[in-house]
Amino acid sequence: MNNLVSVSILSSDFMNLLDDIKTIEKSGADMLHFDVMDGIFVNNISFGFPILKTVNKNTDMHLDVHLMITDPLRYIEECHIGGADTITFHIESESDPDKTIEAIRKTGAKIGLSVKPNTPFERIKPYMDKIDMLLVMTVEPGFGGQSFIEEMLDKISDARKYITENNLNVDIQVDGGINEHTAKLAAKAGANIMVAGSYLFKAENMGDAVKLLADA
Ligand code: DX5
Ligand code: ZN
Repeated sequence: MNNLVSVSILSSDFMNLLDDIKTIEKSGADMLHFDVMDGIFVNNISFGFPILKTVNKNTDMHLDVHLMITDPLRYIEECHIGGADTITFHIESESDPDKTIEAIRKTGAKIGLSVKPNTPFERIKPYMDKIDMLLVMTVEPGFGGQSFIEEMLDKISDARKYITENNLNVDIQVDGGINEHTAKLAAKAGANIMVAGSYLFKAENMGDAVKLLADA
């Protein structure tokens, strides 16, 4: 089974974002990963909805929005207006998870729920039958270019086991430190959507690197 690949534009050249988006389109990747950070939920500020709208106007790719913000519920409508096809929020945020899930459902976007490395899978279990995608963070969210935390592999296998046992249709996405080696470990544990930023932008040929992640 092939993995889906979502390219994080956090590692792109913002002065030449359009060129990078064209490169991503040609690479054969499945999605464009868009990291929104508010400087409070994580220790960094990235970009927000005006950029999302601009990106959406310039590509037909699936926009996979990862909200690393304190109150995601307040911004679901903005994500929708900005063209988000998947909206992922964190269980550790301050928004009510059920209300946030419902708000995403109303937009028609796919529903993603994410866990930071120190949050156990147990916290997500009550929501597993209400979401389309579980995002297991494999680094502490906030920055690109960090190393994959191998201890997360158990969380991925627990989640995959739960999905299979309960006959659910939930994708498992991994984000942080993904390269051709760690993608193999994550896929073996049960992940099927690979997010990668620095690995893909550093590659000599993004298309070849995307293929390695898809085949991992
Ligand atoms: C980190 C972000 C990631 C980041 C991944 O908080 O959620 O999407 O761009 O970057 P790499 O692939 O460089 O670890
Ligand atoms: Zn991300």
